[in-house]
Formats: sequence, structure tokens, C-alpha cells
Amino acid sequence: MDWEAFFTVHKDLPREGPGSEEDVAWALELAALPEGAMICDAGAGAGGDVAALARVGRVLAVDLQAGFVAQMQARFADLPHVTVRKDDMGRIADFPEAPFDMIWCAGALYFLGLKPGLDVMRGALKPGGVLAFSEPCYFTETPGAEARAFWEDYPTRDRAGIAAAVAAAGFEILGTRDVSDVGWEAYYRPMEARIEALRPGADARLAEMLDLCEQEARDWRAVKSETGYHLVVARRLS
Ligand SMILES: C[S@@+](CC[C@H](N)C(=O)[O-])C[C@H]1O[C@@H](n2cnc3c(N)ncnc32)[C@H](O)[C@@H]1O
Repeated sequence: MDWEAFFTVHKDLPREGPGSEEDVAWALELAALPEGAMICDAGAGAGGDVAALARVGRVLAVDLQAGFVAQMQARFADLPHVTVRKDDMGRIADFPEAPFDMIWCAGALYFLGLKPGLDVMRGALKPGGVLAFSEPCYFTETPGAEARAFWEDYPTRDRAGIAAAVAAAGFEILGTRDVSDVGWEAYYRPMEARIEALRPGADARLAEMLDLCEQEARDWRAVKSETGYHLVVARRLS
């Protein structure tokens, strides 16, 4: 990955994956967190969901990419109950703030893999704590080649497959739904506006990244009836 070109496209975008404030509100209602709850936004990217989470509790936002962490630090400098740190969510159970009342992990758990990711997150939650995550999902039993290619080699499941993995990992599912087209466009539209602005004068390296990012949005629009993100809110049992 050409990170320099990637960050030229992605710098200061409102979010780094599909989703909406409405998704966060829906998950928080299901979670019914205690007052003063401690929430971790794991793989927070540019922090697109942090402000909505911070309405109900203290938030630790972590990401592996220094560029996103710097962006979040500037973005949330005025929110004293938001802490931003460059850290690896794979070691979330060892964070000094753990265990958490809630972990929000939008479009990021799959970097760990669904099953290992669920185990890692479970270990960082209080008993009865809530995990909310969005996961690549096939909406049909027979996804076509383009839908399968969209997630490259990731072992994408259907909704029932995700639910089975969540239950097997020791969670009770509180609610599920698919991330809406509005949520996907909230990611892609600002990115496409940035691409358009960067096109004139882009050198070969940047032009390649612009093509890649533009193609991803086109690919999603072509396969969106067959695949997307499935959002799950689940409570840790015992
Ligand atoms: C698709 S983006 C989603 C970002 C954000 N949650 C959103 O919805 O806008 C996934 C993010 O996970 C981060 N990430 C991947 N693996 C990680 C890890 N092990 N620890 C922390 N962050 C990680 C990436 O750097 C990236 O910012």
C-alpha cells in the first residue's frame, strides 16, 4: 500500500468506513449503558463515530494508523472525556482502561478475523458489556464473482453465519441490521469529491491511488444488493 498517496486521498475525510450516526444511536439504545460508561472505539479511523459515542460516556478511540490518530487528536481536542491513542486493538484487553462497558468496532473487527476478533473483544469487556461491530456479509446464498471479489480473500459469511460465530464466542445478540446505502454513501461521496479535486495535477503514484479508490466505490455500487456490512450488537454472557 502506498500510504502517502492513501493519506493524500483520505486526509480529513469525515469517516473511513461505511456507517452513520443513526447506526450508533440504534446500537446505543440496545446497549442501555450505565451512566459514565467507558466505551472503546476500536479501529476508529478518522473518528467518524466518536462524537456520537461520546454523548453517552467516556470514549477511548484507538487506531493503528498515526495519520488517523493525529486527525482525531485535533478533531476531539475540545472533548475532555475523549481520549485518542495510537494502539493495536489486538491487545485491547491489556489497555489500562479495560474492561469496557462497550466496544464499538465499525468495519474493523475483520482485520483480526471474525472468530479471533470476537474472542479478543470478549476478553476486554466487563461481564454484561456490549460489543457492536459491522462485518462483511453476503446478503444472498449465491454471491456472484464480483461480490466475492469485493472482499478479496476475506472469508465472508452470510447473516446466519455471523450470528452463529457471535453466539459461539459467548455473546447474546441484542440486535442486528445491515448498514444502509446512506451509510455507504456517507463514506464514498466525500472520498469521491476529494478524488475529483485531486485529479488535476496528480502525479502517476497519486493517479493510481485515485483510480483504486474510485474503483472501490464503483465496485460497491455494482454489488450492493449481494453484499455489504452487517451490524451486530451483542452482550457478553457471564
Ligand atoms: C475501514 S476503517 C473503519 C474506520 C472507522 N471505524 C469508521 O467506520 O470510519 C478500519 C480501521 O481499522 C484500523 N485498524 C486495523 N487494524 C487495527 C488494529 N489492529 N488496531 C487498531 N486499529 C486497526 C485501520 O487503521 C482503519 O482505520
